[in-house]
Amino acid sequence: MHSSDGSKTSIGGISRDRIVELRETEGAAFRKARPKSQAKVSNGLPGFFGGVPMHWMNDWPTPFPILVDSAKGAAITDIDGNRLDDFCLGDTGSMFGHSPPPVARAIRRQAGRGLTYMLPSEDALAIGPLLQQRFGLPFWQIATTATDANRFSLRVARAVTGREKILVFNGCYHGSVDETMVRLIDGKPVNRPGLAGEFRDLTRTAKVIEFNDVAALEAALKDRDVACVIAEPVLTNSCMVLADPGFHDALRRLTRETGTLLLIDETHTISTGPGGYTRKYGLDPDFFVLGKPIAGGVPASVWGMSDEVASRYAAYNRTKEPGYSGMGTTLSANPLQFATMRATLEEVMTAENYDRMDHLARRLDAGLTGVIDRYRLPWHVARVGARVEFICAPGPLRNGAEAETAHAPELEAAIHVALVNRGVLIAPFHNMMLISPATSGAQVNRLISAFGAVAAKLAA
Ligand SMILES: Cc1ncc(COP(=O)(O)O)c(C=O)c1O
Repeated sequence: MHSSDGSKTSIGGISRDRIVELRETEGAAFRKARPKSQAKVSNGLPGFFGGVPMHWMNDWPTPFPILVDSAKGAAITDIDGNRLDDFCLGDTGSMFGHSPPPVARAIRRQAGRGLTYMLPSEDALAIGPLLQQRFGLPFWQIATTATDANRFSLRVARAVTGREKILVFNGCYHGSVDETMVRLIDGKPVNRPGLAGEFRDLTRTAKVIEFNDVAALEAALKDRDVACVIAEPVLTNSCMVLADPGFHDALRRLTRETGTLLLIDETHTISTGPGGYTRKYGLDPDFFVLGKPIAGGVPASVWGMSDEVASRYAAYNRTKEPGYSGMGTTLSANPLQFATMRATLEEVMTAENYDRMDHLARRLDAGLTGVIDRYRLPWHVARVGARVEFICAPGPLRNGAEAETAHAPELEAAIHVALVNRGVLIAPFHNMMLISPATSGAQVNRLISAFGAVAAKLAA
């Protein structure tokens, strides 16, 4: 029994009383270790609505946000001098470590040469071919966030197909792209609960089905009214759901058969390897999107299109009425992005770094699984390359509905704070842990033993 519902006596196999007790004792320990931070931020940061400059900062389960002094490699130090092994890594934005040296050098180099001009620099000459070689698609554009890269791709998909609808998988997240904000609740498509100020019925233009459900996909595409399926290759924005064997083949076959375009959003699954899940598993999307870590932590994203989409889009542009396309933001494709993206692609996202990340992620997976087995917890571990998650429910999970049920917010929050107190920072959402090229074996070992210590407390 797991639920945020306070009436449940047991969550993820742990008694609720024990979880509440852990949260309280760990919350007190967190405060005690941070007197300076507590004085500065426990009543909110001055001048900000809700006490934080970005509302997600209030979503961390710690009693108040960690006030960071600095971050380097795979560690963060707060203003009280607490050093944390960082496995959250900015929820993927710093997946290659904080300030990777080649990126820091590129920033220093570019800092004296101008930061934005709305014109290309020589680094841009290198980036197009780097993207082509690495990800396999021939035509690219640069934006500033993965959200925008997804939005622009969907706009092109609608333009070239002349179809209004898109299809998403239940439990998805593709950034704050309005039209993807739909869910299945009791099998019925609805606007995602909690959307602020959304007055449209988004289900009018978005179909939503469960991941791994080939029959539902076939049914949803058969009317040939869907412009594009937008998908992560693995659902990472819920408790992690891996693709069933054959699912991606079916997805590609059915989209092709119905003239539907396929957008693969690799913003998180770039943890799989240097060319993402797409290259590793031979996916063949019409659009490819990657944001977050592509410029080593400097805001940037890329979206690529196939030959066929590009020529259809060029033809569309020749006939459409003149005027603003609805795509583009002023700071996109600026020279700082070019410099840092080039450094990331050439020197940071290397096969050697990925080998190392993968190796340590396997060790983490095995270590956490060992702890779960030792304490006979009804939990499991899921992994996509360098991205590992423990899920406080049995697995594997097959779709967004199962992932939603597996989510155990109260228990996850208590574990999160307890890990922070043991020197380890994991993501505040669904227990995500990333291995970067800067992560050491010692850090992984510390995480496994901290997890073991917390599991022992919970299972005692
Ligand atoms: C799969 C996926 N796509 C897109 C995004 C949006 O990224 P950003 O918030 O940088 O626009 C996210 C963010 O978490 C994501 O997980």
